[in-house]
Amino acid sequence: MSTPRTIGVIVGSLRRESFNRKVARAMVALAPPTLAPSLVEIGELTLYDQDLEGESTPKPWTELRQRVRVLDGLLFVTPEYNRGLPAVMKNVIDVGSRPHGHNVWRGKPAGVVSVTPGALGAMAAHHQLRQSLFAVGVAAMPAPEVFIANVATLLGPDGTLTDEKTGEFLRKYMQALAAWTERILADVGTTAGERR
Ligand code: FNR
Repeated sequence: MSTPRTIGVIVGSLRRESFNRKVARAMVALAPPTLAPSLVEIGELTLYDQDLEGESTPKPWTELRQRVRVLDGLLFVTPEYNRGLPAVMKNVIDVGSRPHGHNVWRGKPAGVVSVTPGALGAMAAHHQLRQSLFAVGVAAMPAPEVFIANVATLLGPDGTLTDEKTGEFLRKYMQALAAWTERILADVGTTAGERR
């Protein structure tokens, strides 16, 4: 078997008991062996400020950029705040997109998932995220779409995914993400790491 594709999983919530993080962990566990997903932490990133680029570039920005640059693909899992994207998720996109000419997102295949304890599946945040990903050149998989509503009813007391139907759907989603990743990387003609 060839080397599994590295997928950076970015969760748009910093709180310890985050539903989004729990779903992201479940998706990591459901990934096929052709994918090697791992969480990319974003809590240390200070707010993007162009004045800091250059000699005083914050270390977490540099580390994030280096980490993303060598990934084959991405999986974004986001909550919704006030019918929009949480600031931490927008911030990581902004940090990775700069300095001008050094955007680390461009050409990466990605999955987009939104998760909420509410009834509407965090659809507004989901589409706002897709809009920003489009702007930075991420190839977001158009389908299947994942809007997870009422998430608290899908998890057990220990925070693991207990709803079988959702688990089966997310397993298929990860297979689709694996196929999408291959398709986009074949289009580019090489892996992200080799493209540096
Ligand atoms: C929310 N929440 C929320 N939920 C939603 O479905 N649509 C929304 O517009 C909002 N708005 C919102 C604003 C702010 C500031 C907060 C803190 C929360 C509720 C949100 O879905 C809930 O807190 C989730 O638990 C957040 O995701 P994590 O942290 O559990 O992953």
